[in-house]
Amino acid sequence: MRAVTVSAFTADLLAGLRSRPRRIAPKWFYDAAGSRLFERICELPEYYPTRTELAMLAAHAQELARRVGPGAEIVEFGAGASRKVRLLLDALAAPRRFVAVDISGEHLAGAAAALRDDYPGLEVETVVGDFSADLDLPPPRGCRIGFFPGSSIGNFDPAAAVALLRRFAGWLEGGALLIGVDLVKDPALLHAAYNDSQGVTAGFNLNLLVRANREAGADFDVDAWAHSAFYNPPLQRIEMHLVSRRRQAVEVAGERFEFDEGASIHTENSYKYTAEGFAALAQQAGFGTGAVWIDPARRFSLHWLQPLTQEERR
Ligand code: AVJ
Repeated sequence: MRAVTVSAFTADLLAGLRSRPRRIAPKWFYDAAGSRLFERICELPEYYPTRTELAMLAAHAQELARRVGPGAEIVEFGAGASRKVRLLLDALAAPRRFVAVDISGEHLAGAAAALRDDYPGLEVETVVGDFSADLDLPPPRGCRIGFFPGSSIGNFDPAAAVALLRRFAGWLEGGALLIGVDLVKDPALLHAAYNDSQGVTAGFNLNLLVRANREAGADFDVDAWAHSAFYNPPLQRIEMHLVSRRRQAVEVAGERFEFDEGASIHTENSYKYTAEGFAALAQQAGFGTGAVWIDPARRFSLHWLQPLTQEERR
C-alpha cells in the first residue's frame, strides 16, 4: 500500500464527481488564471454588478466613512485585486489596518504590495485562506469592519449564507459588516450577465477543467464541454454548469468517471435577493438591520449590518 496525499482541490473534485448531482465548488474557480478571468468578467459590458457597486461605493463614501469612524480596521473577505476597498480607504479617516483575506495567494501578494505603496500610513496584512472553512484572523486592531463586496454571498445557499454571516458576526463584535448583494431583476439582464458575448464567462467556467488537468491529474478534453448558465426563478439563483457535449470517460487522479452526452457538472450558484429578503437573512444570522442602499436602476444593494450584542439577541 502506498499512502497518497491529494490536495484539497483534488479531494473536493473527486468527492464532487462521485456525488449526484455532480458538482465542483465555485471557490476552485480562483487559481491565477481564473482570478484573471474574473477580473475580465468585471469589465464586461453585460456584467453590471462590479461597476454598479463601485459607483455606489463612490457615491456613498462620505456616509460610509462616517459610519466606519476613524482608526478602523477593514477586513475584506475574498479580496482579489482589492480595487473596491480603495474607494472606502480613500474616504476613511486614518484607517489603521487593512486585512485582505483570499483563497488565491498569488493574486493577494501583488494586490497588497500595491496597497502598501499607495497608502503609506496603512498597515496591510494578507491572510491566504478559505473564509468558508477555518480561518485564522489576527487579533483586531481598532474597530473591525468586515467588507464582503461583489455579492460573493450569492455563492452560498441561504442556509450556508446564514451560517457564514453568523461567523462574520462573531469576528466583527462591536464593529460592522458592509456587504454587497445582487438583487432579483429581469431574468434577461441576469442571463446576459452570465452569458457574455465575448465568452469570457464560458472561459472562466471551463478553466476549472484546465485546472483539474494541471493540478488533479485529470484528462478532461476541454473542447468536449460546454458552458451553461441560466436563471432558476423559484430558487432566485443563476446556475452555472459544465455540460458534456458527448458521451465520454475522464480520468481524475487515477479514478475513471463516465459522462453521458448532456450530463452536467454544477459549478456555481449565484443567489439573488430582494433588499427585504436579505435583511431578514442577516437578522437570522445575528445582525441588526442597519442601512441599505440601492442604485437608481435597482440592480444591486449594499447593506450595513451590525452584529447584535448578546443582550440584543435575547
Ligand atoms: C464572485 C460569486 C459574485 O456570482 O456573479 C461571475 C462569480 N460567476 N460570473 C457572481 C461569477 C460568473 C460572481 N461572484
